[in-house]
Amino acid sequence: MMKIGVLISGGGTNLQAVIDAVHGKSGDIAVVISNKADAYGLERAQKADIPTSVILESDCADVDDFNKKMIGVLKDYGVELVVLAGFMRILTPAFIAAYPNRIVNIHPALIPSFCGEGFYGMRVHRAIFEYGAKVSGPTVHFVNEEADGGPIIAQKAVAIDDCDSPEAIAETVLREEHKLLPWVVEQICLGRVHVDGRLVTIDKA
Ligand code: GRF
Repeated sequence: MMKIGVLISGGGTNLQAVIDAVHGKSGDIAVVISNKADAYGLERAQKADIPTSVILESDCADVDDFNKKMIGVLKDYGVELVVLAGFMRILTPAFIAAYPNRIVNIHPALIPSFCGEGFYGMRVHRAIFEYGAKVSGPTVHFVNEEADGGPIIAQKAVAIDDCDSPEAIAETVLREEHKLLPWVVEQICLGRVHVDGRLVTIDKA
């Protein structure tokens, strides 16, 4: 069973979705790493008896040291697939090189719209609301050195024309995230995802 490492920074609802749908089924979450000691996602992992590790940037000499420490923990647990689930830090080229096309991230918008530098959390949904977009939805992509720039694995567009606030958009999109991320992780664990340059294909079940 493929060993998965999940990186979080906050509440961990996406982590919970992967625990519920994948852990002990198509994959094994070997460790959850957080850069925040108070991330509620750590409690979610502990409740599922999944090992956790907190790596504080304040304990690291610099961003390279921080990433080296994360890679060390992931390798110690034999992690083969890294899932960023609300992880709010950029990874270094060394980290990305350690897991080529084996790091996935979920972004709460339809890349290449509303993504890249500065587009995270509620800033994404506020920009979408102000722009007057009629659809939005999550994107799951492989991580490369460009923020939100890696090959797209899957997306789900949903209507948001009846959302009367950025918060309503966030809620609508998060519901879809909780379906899309576990599904993509499962497809990768089952060996159904293939990458050719920027083109990602998924075998039909
Ligand atoms: C989600 O909106 C996700 O798209 C973004 O960060 C948020 C994570 O939420 N990357 P949670 O911590 O998984 O609840």
